[in-house]
Amino acid sequence: QTVKLKNYSQTDFVFKGVYLTIRLFEGSAEIESQIRLERRQGTASDAPLVLDGDELNLTFLKLDGRTIPDSDYDAAPDRLTIRNLPASGEFLLDIGTRIVPEENTKLMGLYRSNGIWCTQCEAEGFRRITYFYDRPDVLIPYTVRIEASKEAAPVLLSNGNPGETGDLPDGRHFAVWDDPFNKPSYLFAVVAGDLERVGDSFTTASGRNVTLGIFTDKGRSHQAGYAMDALKRSMAWDERRFGREYDLDVFNVVAISDFNMGAMENKGLNVFNHKYVLLDPDTATDQDYAGVETVIAHEYFHNWTGNRITCRDWFQLCLKEGLTVFRDQEFSADERERTVQRIGSVRRLKSMQFPEDQGPLQHPVRPSEYREINNFYTATVYDKGAELVRMIATLLGPEDFRAGMDLYFERHDGDAATIEDFVKVFEDASGTDLSTFALWYEQAGTPTLTVSERYDASADSMTVTLSQSLKQGAARTGTKPVMMPVRIGLVGPDGEDRPLVPAAGGDIRDDVIRLQEAEESFVFEKVGGRPYLSVLRDFSAPVTLVHDQPESDRLALARLDPNPFNRWRILNDLLGERLASAAGGTGPIAEDPLGDELIRAIVETAGDDDLDPAFRAQVLALPAETDIARLIGKDIDPSRIYETSLNARSAIAERGRAVFERLIAIAPADEAFSPDAESAGRRALANAALGFVTVADGDPERTFQRFEEATNMTDRQGALAILVFRFPGHERTRQALDRFYERYEDDPLVLDKWFALQAAAPGEATLDRIRELAAHPRFTLKNPNRARSLIGSLAGMNPTAFHRPDGEGYAWFAERLLELDAINPQIAARMATAFRTWRMLESGRRGKAEATLSNMAKMPQLSKDLKDILERTLG
Ligand code: ARG
Ligand code: ZN
Repeated sequence: QTVKLKNYSQTDFVFKGVYLTIRLFEGSAEIESQIRLERRQGTASDAPLVLDGDELNLTFLKLDGRTIPDSDYDAAPDRLTIRNLPASGEFLLDIGTRIVPEENTKLMGLYRSNGIWCTQCEAEGFRRITYFYDRPDVLIPYTVRIEASKEAAPVLLSNGNPGETGDLPDGRHFAVWDDPFNKPSYLFAVVAGDLERVGDSFTTASGRNVTLGIFTDKGRSHQAGYAMDALKRSMAWDERRFGREYDLDVFNVVAISDFNMGAMENKGLNVFNHKYVLLDPDTATDQDYAGVETVIAHEYFHNWTGNRITCRDWFQLCLKEGLTVFRDQEFSADERERTVQRIGSVRRLKSMQFPEDQGPLQHPVRPSEYREINNFYTATVYDKGAELVRMIATLLGPEDFRAGMDLYFERHDGDAATIEDFVKVFEDASGTDLSTFALWYEQAGTPTLTVSERYDASADSMTVTLSQSLKQGAARTGTKPVMMPVRIGLVGPDGEDRPLVPAAGGDIRDDVIRLQEAEESFVFEKVGGRPYLSVLRDFSAPVTLVHDQPESDRLALARLDPNPFNRWRILNDLLGERLASAAGGTGPIAEDPLGDELIRAIVETAGDDDLDPAFRAQVLALPAETDIARLIGKDIDPSRIYETSLNARSAIAERGRAVFERLIAIAPADEAFSPDAESAGRRALANAALGFVTVADGDPERTFQRFEEATNMTDRQGALAILVFRFPGHERTRQALDRFYERYEDDPLVLDKWFALQAAAPGEATLDRIRELAAHPRFTLKNPNRARSLIGSLAGMNPTAFHRPDGEGYAWFAERLLELDAINPQIAARMATAFRTWRMLESGRRGKAEATLSNMAKMPQLSKDLKDILERTLG
């Protein structure tokens, strides 16, 4: 049941091509798969063909046109075994299956959402459509013929370029699609339904005219304009930055309302959760706009990093995901503002990936075994995977990195590749030995980087000592020193970087130290007086930084570090440390956990009009309660963390009030909406300021007014969030929520926000409201976005309600999880990861969480997905 990396072997038979016929009817679908194949050289001549299936029904089975006798095959729902196949030469298998898309609530394979037939095949969904070698190293061309009723499905889409279309009897029609590129089954897609289309076109650098289409539910296509704009910008950027052009005549995107993940990069036919396509100023926030831009870019970029070059097996998932996240991060950095984007990525890494990497669900970026691959679409594979690519770029510098990427595309186009292949191209292109770097892919856990510094006045030299260590965690994957880029600067009191003059020790290129040993010292000469050491600039490695630096140096750097990322990082670290030390203690909760100097530094930075408003908004965003929990690390009491954060917020609000009053005006409520980064930054700053002023007021009135006057969703939701978080249960909060509901009850994406905000309202009493909301007529566990908005928001966004000391939060959540598991195991398993930090809780809650987990793990009908997460979480 456990799949292991070391057991990889090729298939016994070689697939050459497939012709799929998909006949869609109300209540069922008939699939016919004609596969051309032959026995692989070296495969025993009596070896059977064993194909993957999942809940399948075989309707017929033919070899070269003749029905195969029953004695020559076994058709189980999850496996088709065929014996006595030709020992040599090509032959044609014809496999018939019947499935029921309407009953497919797992949303894997072929299913129906809102009347639309659509597919999700990654990772192992294709086997829910037909028996196949459902693995990423089987690369073949596909031709697909779709037949459906003209009325139910005027639009018929699949991968590749469009071919023949025509009418059939009984009001039906057909369309043929041809994908000339070899691809694995996980990139297969079909969409059929009554869809609306927005069209556009893009001419590639070499002159190919590509027809672009975005398909939506009826009446929604006016919300697809920004996605189309982001798509065209993505196409142009990939040409500029990586020399990658699009390779088919059409590129289609479809927005689907029931979708497990964000989106899927099927060749030429990306299928999206409609949350990442549909937008307008009245219904979407600036964050939603940024999310659409990122996901559109991400899926488009997969065309080269994922599709043209795919993965040999699912252990190599980070080969496409880490690299593609890196690419979408770079796109956003170029299109928006680099520092602000980097802050966002680092926040996400620390709040999502660090807890995973430091708890029971820990695994290497390239895992070596799994029981359920869907549980490895994780922050570690995606976000830490992207950090590893970023480290290669930092270690090699832009030219060598680009040369390595060029070599990767040249050498591996058309391959199902491995991490070894990927690392090798950078070694070959740059002449650098990356063998100790490659350990990052194998060793789980967050390394600690410890920094110490010594300035020698008589020699005017600065010695920087770096040491790395890694605690052996749940995954027990080894702890050798790795190659790690540490970007540094020596900053003078004038706020200028001093030239770096390395005297002795180690490998330093420009401002990047290549740390390779467990401990190394680096001496810099002609420093020009004692400098401030700015270390780990731009978060050049995904580590826990321990730097025992004088407080005065830190506060000085927070004001004048020429590396703006580090200005944010230092303030954020100081906030985290103070909050964790106050909340982690046992005495009375500190009234002023932050102290004057830190608050002054934060308020000053926020008020500095020379800085980008989006950056200043980041400075005002306190560490999340879950981040503080991670910093405390043990015996966590979420209520104490909440109280401590509240006190910190009030202290900042009071002392910064004058500045915040001024900042509210930086984004006037009646300004015409534009989704650009600059405008979004001003709105973010104004709304952060409003939050503090409202706290200082001790009264929701001003925020309520702002809610009423808002002319876009960013301001409306921003104000509503302040009401919900700072005045839970207040009359004004209830009024605002009611108005919001009345206005948007028919818009599912906005209604998700309404559920999610209420479920995140702090306080134990929120659980009662969540119970009510679960009985709301518009609530359903069947739609993943809706399930996440309520259940996911409780477990992921509401520490005080989820971790109620009486255990009611866990108990209620567990009941919903089991219900959800029977519908959609993938989503249930994903949500269950909320328990991954249970061991860090104080003993009362820890005991209750453990009991809840063990009770769930004992349930008889658990899915493989949920069982895997529960068992690993329990350890
Ligand atoms: N490859 C998709 C992406 O762009 C994610 C698909 C994940 N699907 C799944 N069933 N685990 O990241
Ligand atoms: Zn991806």
